[in-house]
Amino acid sequence: MAVNTRIFHCDEFFRLSREEKKEFQSIIQKELEENPIKHLDTEWGRFENLSPMSEEEIDRLAEEVLSEMTLEQKVYQMSCDNDARYAPLNPPRYNFIPYYAGEDLDLNIPAVKFTDGPTGIVMSYHATAFPVSIARGSTWDTELEERVGNVIGIEGRSGGANFFAGVCINLLRHPAWGRAQETYGEDTVLLGKMGAALTKGVQKHMMACVKHYAANSMENARFKVDVEMDERTLREIYLPHFKECVDAGAAAIMSAYNRVRGEWCGHHDYLLNQILNGEWGFKGFVMSDFIWGIRDTVDAANGGQCMEMYATQFFGKRLVDAVRDGKVDEIKIDAAVKRILREKIRFSFVGDKAQYSEEKMGCKEHAELAREVSEKSTILLKNEGLLPLEKDKIKKITVVGRLAVEPNTGDLKGSSAVFPPYVITPLQGILNEAGSGIEIKYADGRIPHQAQELSKDADVVVIIAGLTSLDEGEFITNGGDVGGDRKYLGLHPEDEDLIEAVSKANKNVIVVLQGGSTIIVEPWKNLAKAILIQWYPGMEGGTALANILFGKANPSAKLPITVPATPQQLPYFDMNATSIAYDYYHGYFLADKEKYPVSYPFGFGLSYTNYSYSNPKVTKNGDTITVSVDISNTGKIAGDEVVQLYIGYKGSKVERHVKDLKGFTKIHLEPGEKKTAIIEIDKEDLAYYCPESKQWVVEDIGYVALIGASSACKDLLKADFDLK
Ligand code: BGC
Repeated sequence: MAVNTRIFHCDEFFRLSREEKKEFQSIIQKELEENPIKHLDTEWGRFENLSPMSEEEIDRLAEEVLSEMTLEQKVYQMSCDNDARYAPLNPPRYNFIPYYAGEDLDLNIPAVKFTDGPTGIVMSYHATAFPVSIARGSTWDTELEERVGNVIGIEGRSGGANFFAGVCINLLRHPAWGRAQETYGEDTVLLGKMGAALTKGVQKHMMACVKHYAANSMENARFKVDVEMDERTLREIYLPHFKECVDAGAAAIMSAYNRVRGEWCGHHDYLLNQILNGEWGFKGFVMSDFIWGIRDTVDAANGGQCMEMYATQFFGKRLVDAVRDGKVDEIKIDAAVKRILREKIRFSFVGDKAQYSEEKMGCKEHAELAREVSEKSTILLKNEGLLPLEKDKIKKITVVGRLAVEPNTGDLKGSSAVFPPYVITPLQGILNEAGSGIEIKYADGRIPHQAQELSKDADVVVIIAGLTSLDEGEFITNGGDVGGDRKYLGLHPEDEDLIEAVSKANKNVIVVLQGGSTIIVEPWKNLAKAILIQWYPGMEGGTALANILFGKANPSAKLPITVPATPQQLPYFDMNATSIAYDYYHGYFLADKEKYPVSYPFGFGLSYTNYSYSNPKVTKNGDTITVSVDISNTGKIAGDEVVQLYIGYKGSKVERHVKDLKGFTKIHLEPGEKKTAIIEIDKEDLAYYCPESKQWVVEDIGYVALIGASSACKDLLKADFDLK
């Protein structure tokens, strides 16, 4: 049997002493030299060159293949090919090449070839690094996100993968979550629409996997925490975005590490069998998160788990034995394997092989898209007439901050780290754009006094401050804890001191924030004339920043999160919790309920032009509710405006949020132009989940359409309607 078809349990390896591991690995090394891992000759094995098929034909072919398979061969489909013993021999870092699962040389069945994301393709050293997902969430631009997905799909296939596990849509309940950067924000509608757009883009070329199902919104405790929540909170807040991606055709769902209501997500009969497969009719397969994503052979197989990644702990031989011992019915195995085979077949005829080549990775065209996304995801939070900078009026700029010269693309040590061919830093971007007519000075800010001195006679000072992969990201404990959940929600104290010091020397201070989550700005926001949030802006972030500063691009991004004034305006969070209750309120729901005076509301973002809204209207046609508003660009330059629709409820029988986001659209307007923004929703979108009847209920009550520029009351126009 070829090396890559053996089934091995990595926990047997984990239990060995360091010396034994070394000895083992030298044997394996030799074995691999003599007997290198073999792969199929073709990309799709027995499914190569199939013509597109109907769903029924795919089903039939999957069943046919299944009927040829032994129990061992079936279980092999459900277990990763990676042998933990090889891990230290893997080149040259995590996921540098795809991880294979279920490549069966005897049956000529192709592997799932895994690459991670979501900032781009994790494989290689020359993939396009896009702005992180929270940045992309700030664009509120599903068409753009689909284009990002398309490029990710092309690069994934070019690098030899066929499976992208980077559609991360966990809800940002609390900004301390270390992996906030990997998701699109705090609202289920925004998460669902952006996740579905990425899924559609990626799936033009390869399978997309949506993660981490479900309620995975804490990092450090992810392997132990049990998340409690009532049924309405689960159904209305934490699940709808997953359903939206399932409806968009996602090939796979990754189960989360954490528990929900006492059960591990990787074994969760209610979440996997009943809701995902049963109620939502999901046809794809479930994959476990990597190592300790399941905890028990029988519970996982019976609970709806289809594939254990990325090394076999509980499936493999143990699952074969469990079937033989009658603890797992073979029907369960057949169902899981059929799901896996179906997706392999379905994706064998997706894409266009002629497009995929090494040169596509991080190519100029893709880098251009990364720049466009960064421009469209940079939020202008504050501007007291300072921006955009006019080149003929500005003679001297001082750039301050250590991040101005850092390639700060996000988590660099976790599973989402993407390694692009180059990164344009903020300072480099500003130098490139300013040209020789403007003198640029730089101070790293470690000595505030020096930064003050260099800032004194500048026309404007640009301070780049924020977070890095040492402050947040995946929690990695190797040789000391780095990343993980955030300990502070503001800037580092030294950065706050720096802003204060520099603002004493110069009144024209622009603060540019980098990071993957909300940063509390209240302590210093009055010291800055302009504030931008650039997030982790990707490989072309410096170019995008310069284009925004000098007005080559007009900001259009809006907050996908609420910026609270104080941590007290946030829900309870404990990074070490073994159990935690998530309730119906977080983000703008909580701010609305408690009437908190937040620093900046969800959905907020300025532009270099101004828009005026008028004439909100609601019309109904069958189950479709159409809300429209007229919008004019009253400024002097063209711009894009994100128009948001919230719904409020009058006299509901049950507890409701003050308002819920239900839809949004982006409108381009030339100076002086007026257009009508139209957002359609379905009657069903007004429903609440009734735990007693287990039904979604649309109440026959009064509703208020609130349409406008942000979630703040003053930015929303109202139109009452009912369902009669
Ligand atoms: C992460 C997943 C990731 C997986 C594989 C895990 O540690 O939680 O998001 O997809 O590793 O890289």
